[in-house]
Amino acid sequence: MVKIAVFASGNGSNFEKLVQAKDKNYSIELLIVDQEDAFALDRAKNLGIRSKFINPKNFTSKSEYEKNIFSILKEYSIEYIVLAGYMRIISSELLRNFEKKIINIHPSYLPEFPGRDSIGDVFRSKNSQTGITIHYVDEGIDTGEIIYQERIDINPLWNKEELTNKIHEREHIVYPEVLKSLFDRSINI
Ligand code: GRF
Repeated sequence: MVKIAVFASGNGSNFEKLVQAKDKNYSIELLIVDQEDAFALDRAKNLGIRSKFINPKNFTSKSEYEKNIFSILKEYSIEYIVLAGYMRIISSELLRNFEKKIINIHPSYLPEFPGRDSIGDVFRSKNSQTGITIHYVDEGIDTGEIIYQERIDINPLWNKEELTNKIHEREHIVYPEVLKSLFDRSINI
């Protein structure tokens, strides 16, 4: 079992699906959130997963904040960090300690529509297709090496909420599957 920590900032629906996935070859040891009111915390409680709110405001710098997170990750022997709606940029402190071991899911077909409001940007673009991307995290914003991506056709009649639901529906299926196959490979190396 690969030991992972999930980082989230808000709703946490992907986190929940990762926990509920069947035949997992990973174990979610810990949820870390940077927002006190993140709904992901309630989900963790209901799912029986240990969670921690780490307030970035309690640290003098991003590096101190990440050092603190790193010490917690070490405490639980975490091997991979899985981002699921974590709205902060990961910086060198964690990147160099988890090289190619931080994974993110992004709700667009990267490199199209990087950034914070990519679903809104896609919706406003009136494009006929979007997608989802799972990628390694590097120092850029949604620029890391792509592990998996797929296209989603957009029905022009959908409103933004319907588009969002469609994207989440695919994310919820694909994220656990991609992690499973990734960890299978890493176990076999
Ligand atoms: C997802 O759409 C994910 O792609 C993006 O943030 C959203 C998180 O949703 N990075 P949730 O918190 O998992 O419901």
